[in-house]
Amino acid sequence: MTVETEKLSTLLHENRTFPPSESFRAQANFQDENIYQRALDDPETYWAEQAGELSWFKPFEIVCSWQPPHAKWFIEGKLNAAYNCVDRHTETWRKNKAAIIWEGEPGDQRVITYDMLRREVDKAAHMLKSLGVKKGDRVTIYLPMIPELPVAMLACAKIGAVHSIVFGGFSAKSLRERIIDADSKILITADAGWRRGKQIPLKANADIAVEETPIEQVVVVSRVGAESNITMKDGRDAYWHELIKQSPTTPFEPEQMDSEDILFLLYTSGTTGKPKGIVHTTAGYLTGANTSMRTVFDLKDSDIFFCTADIGWITGHTYIVYGPLSAGATVVMYEGSPDYPGRDRFWEMVDHYGVTILYTAPTSIRTFMKWGPQYLEQHDLSSLRLLGTVGEPINPEAWMWYHEHIGKKRCPIVDTWWQTETGCAMIAPLPGIVETKPGSATRAVPGIEIDIVDEQGNSVDAKDGGYLVIKKPWPSMLRTVWGDDERFQKTYFGQFKDTYLPGDGAHRDEQGYIWILGRIDDVINVSGHRIGTAEVESALVAHPAVAEAAVIGRSDAIKGQAITAFVSVREGARTDDALIAELKQSVVEKIGAMARPEEIIFSAELPKTRSAKIMRRLLRDIAEGRVLGDTTTLADPTVVEELKAQYKDTE
Ligand code: WTA
Repeated sequence: MTVETEKLSTLLHENRTFPPSESFRAQANFQDENIYQRALDDPETYWAEQAGELSWFKPFEIVCSWQPPHAKWFIEGKLNAAYNCVDRHTETWRKNKAAIIWEGEPGDQRVITYDMLRREVDKAAHMLKSLGVKKGDRVTIYLPMIPELPVAMLACAKIGAVHSIVFGGFSAKSLRERIIDADSKILITADAGWRRGKQIPLKANADIAVEETPIEQVVVVSRVGAESNITMKDGRDAYWHELIKQSPTTPFEPEQMDSEDILFLLYTSGTTGKPKGIVHTTAGYLTGANTSMRTVFDLKDSDIFFCTADIGWITGHTYIVYGPLSAGATVVMYEGSPDYPGRDRFWEMVDHYGVTILYTAPTSIRTFMKWGPQYLEQHDLSSLRLLGTVGEPINPEAWMWYHEHIGKKRCPIVDTWWQTETGCAMIAPLPGIVETKPGSATRAVPGIEIDIVDEQGNSVDAKDGGYLVIKKPWPSMLRTVWGDDERFQKTYFGQFKDTYLPGDGAHRDEQGYIWILGRIDDVINVSGHRIGTAEVESALVAHPAVAEAAVIGRSDAIKGQAITAFVSVREGARTDDALIAELKQSVVEKIGAMARPEEIIFSAELPKTRSAKIMRRLLRDIAEGRVLGDTTTLADPTVVEELKAQYKDTE
């Protein structure tokens, strides 16, 4: 295991603490520390109470059945996620409350009330039904951050179809792989999306992706009005707005789903080249998402909640759509880049909409730091009352900057550790109760039992690093990997019996606070995006000039990690700048821009152990310019010297 001892020793010196202010505590949803003990003593009762916040067509009878590693929650219950996120609010005073405040990158705006959202979702559900989509069918969605995205998701949920959203930054090839794996017959996409004033050609990518796949129908949202630039294939492609026009305006009867019916698939990277379709089910996932809004985010009806993630990732699924909407909140949804047209775009929005809770990623905070506080000073941020962070470990310096410059020392910060697989925040403070420390996600949320263990699964002493584990099942845990239950069992439960292994290293300080150290497997976290080294390596070796490739994540001041690729070429191939450019482009085409290697280093051979395993740790040391450790196990030690010299040349 590569627990980062260097990082560990710096974090151990972090002892600043920030208790919630009296005024925050006094208004917090949860002020009583006992909630933790109560949930620990009797998690089933705790989770049953939380599930009681949802609306059920038929109440559940058994809270949890745990046949490791398979869990079922809220058995015999019947409910509908879209009904919970939309319809039920229209039966209350929230009917005319804003559900989504949307802003497009060019500056266009839409405010959608719960009642309007209900009508939009119902029309879209009628449309999907008329296209032949049935309960259990998978619908792949490849859209920019426009209102049709949550509408399409909720329409799927309403008819009981399973959505599989593919982030708009993924390439045609990645989209295609996910369509094939999910066996989707229908794709919802857009002509293009806006990013930094440029059009991202989603439909053109989709055209390549769907060839020779099970896709029979492509629904195209006209976002940028690029009708003349795209081709619509007769019999396969149709415009969203034209189909919607034919939809009846009558309410769509929500499908009564079993608690354990699948709500969605979301693909994420793992240690092999093939992405995993993480399976989330209806009642457990929704209970987790909804609970964390009230506990971790202290949500009130008066809040304006702005999560800056893209819905293409789990953070957007849970904290733009299912969490906030199931709780009847108002969310702000933004289409574009934070620096378009100026670097104050987020602050302008916070000011304009009176955002009260802001949830963003450490990489964004470090970018704002780099830009400087002047962009914040032009705007009134006094509406903010709570800040959140997610996606990667936050360094104490970025935490302090967030606290001082954005939170004006007033707002508690909830650092939330979780994963696509966990569905919702697992380690995070309850902001009215827990004193925070810069860089620590603090402690497990109520109902979740966390430990840090050694290779044998024994709890480690305070200050020692180890494997982070989750010891008991929880409602929003993944149920399996789509089509590959063996992979699910091996990846998450293969190492420790009946205990979930997230793949992160962590340590606990003397007060029991948890400090996340980062991934311990071959997954790189670039700006909060999970990228498998194997995926990038297979994209590189697909190039005819490449014999072998090894990819590592080196630390990067802004992105957290950046990708460095070590490549050995075939006989006769030219190792020049043109090849570097081609290889980078090939990764972008095969995966997406977020996986583009920052640098490519050519090497006659890659350093390997005697058992022919590539020494990634050593490559990382080289890329980060550290002194080399023991290299006696290298098959050819001169290789390292050569790599080191070459790396200097590329700097
Ligand atoms: C990392 C994103 C430290 C971690 C919700 C995890 C974090 C992976 C934090 C999951 C945090 C996420 N502190 N590390 N607060 N939040 N991570 O599936 O390595 O895209 O395993 O889910 O991000 O990434 P994913």
